[in-house]
Amino acid sequence: MPTAFPAGSSPAGSSSAGALDLSAYRLAAEPYYRPVGDEIAVFEAAWRHRLPVMLKGPTGCGKTRFVEHMAWRLGRPLITVAAHEDMTAADLAGRFLLTPEGTVWHDGPLTQAVRHGAICYLDEIVEARQDTTVVIHPLTDARRMLPLEKRNELVAAHADFHLVISYNPGYQSAVKDLKESTKQRFIAIDFDYPAPALEAEIVMREAGADAALARTLVAIAACSRNLRGHGLDEGASTRMLIHAGRLAAGGVSLEAAVQAGIVLPITDDADMRRALSAAISACFA
Ligand SMILES: Nc1ncnc2c1ncn2[C@@H]1O[C@H](COP(=O)(O)OP(=O)(O)OP(=O)(O)O)[C@@H](O)[C@H]1O
Ligand SMILES: [Mg+2]
Repeated sequence: MPTAFPAGSSPAGSSSAGALDLSAYRLAAEPYYRPVGDEIAVFEAAWRHRLPVMLKGPTGCGKTRFVEHMAWRLGRPLITVAAHEDMTAADLAGRFLLTPEGTVWHDGPLTQAVRHGAICYLDEIVEARQDTTVVIHPLTDARRMLPLEKRNELVAAHADFHLVISYNPGYQSAVKDLKESTKQRFIAIDFDYPAPALEAEIVMREAGADAALARTLVAIAACSRNLRGHGLDEGASTRMLIHAGRLAAGGVSLEAAVQAGIVLPITDDADMRRALSAAISACFA
């Protein structure tokens, strides 16, 4: 670990180590979330013990909405980071930047959450390289520490700091899986598309669809999900149903809304588009 600070910088001179206005990260209104099982109770228990949480599930099934809802429920600011393969540990922890005043340290989003007691949500964590992911290790065991080696500082996590990660199991290859030592630090909550009645309720609420339209879209989703593994990586997500529902509730014909909201985005393959359209039509034959 370096023992000296770069010229012109010191922890005291840092612009970001002091009080930080996290109001932009607070949710002003309750994000609508319809519980599917005991996920709220599990998350609250994990939060009480500050056990890090991993949300697993396919795209568009409610993981992000859930974490937003929980941040609101627990009254904590939420700092979200979308992980990607070029993300470095410095992108999370922070870096020295050259300014006209000299070299100034800027906390990264993870460090901001650690210092100030926010919930940090690392979305699609498996996209990050494993050498980046290990920065969360000392934070996610009994130490609850974030070493900032470049700054020669060990940041003890604020009592309210909480780490949540998400990923879509199944899409990534084995090389992109999390390290065993990362996985085993987390409480996991499995997400999937809600049962039909619940999903219809969500589509009504989120798309402004009436009950009949919502039921129809949920039935279409079931047809598309049957093609999972038969040419489609995934069936239509709850998110897609909401998109199609908004178009249809806004006056677009159901057929056009389903094409634009579901069939065209989900596959580029002309044969697969035909097969999916046929499967959807067959649902209503
Ligand atoms: N249980 C639920 N309660 C309320 N809304 C939901 C629920 N599940 C899904 N939704 C709706 O579905 C949309 C998509 O969900 P969300 O963005 O949370 O998906 P995700 O699981 O985070 O997907 P991705 O992995 O692609 O990021 C939300 O914006 C919300 O409108
Ligand atoms: Mg998400």
